[in-house]
Amino acid sequence: AETAMHYMPERVELVSLSEAIQRCQACDLHRHATQPVFGEGPSDARLVLVGEQPGDQEDRQGRPFVGPAGKLLDQALQRAGIRRDAIYVTNVVKHFNFTEATGARGIRRLHQKPNVREVFACRPWLEAELALIQPQVIVCLGATAAQSLFGRDFQISKGRGKLIATDWCERTIATWHPSAILRMPDQARKSEMEQQLFDDLVRANNASH
Ligand code: URA
Repeated sequence: AETAMHYMPERVELVSLSEAIQRCQACDLHRHATQPVFGEGPSDARLVLVGEQPGDQEDRQGRPFVGPAGKLLDQALQRAGIRRDAIYVTNVVKHFNFTEATGARGIRRLHQKPNVREVFACRPWLEAELALIQPQVIVCLGATAAQSLFGRDFQISKGRGKLIATDWCERTIATWHPSAILRMPDQARKSEMEQQLFDDLVRANNASH
């Protein structure tokens, strides 16, 4: 199967990668997405956050975590004393994947979970980002990112909050995806998850210095 390797620039730098990914057709997601959403942040970031895939707002703006999940993430980062412009934020899959649903508010683009093929095809971009940045700590937001770095069997509910060595970083930690918190109907559970996201970000940040 084709992967993003085919589109890698000769000189691997964040700028050349973000230009090269504009041409990526390693999977079919480029057909319907507005643009790829590459990672954002300094190349010497000590902390890297990895999400799943851009959502509707990210697809329109071309930047990661700028929609509702991004707002929740920004609040948690601020509370944890982490400056967003000091960290690197990216996703496992770089193109938005959606189905259209017609409802009372018109046509909405509903996010779809990326499949194994899309994750596989896109992986070289994430690997290139991590190899370049060599962060002190990686935070996986949600199961897609966590399974991508820890392996298929990883469950956030069981494994979150622990700093574990992976091929990518001595200290890799998984936590709740902000969207999972936003979707949680049970208020008490929701507050608990928010607190855990905060705790995990604090732990990650402390381990990065
Ligand atoms: N959800 C993600 O996983 N990533 C984004 O960039 C936005 C929403």
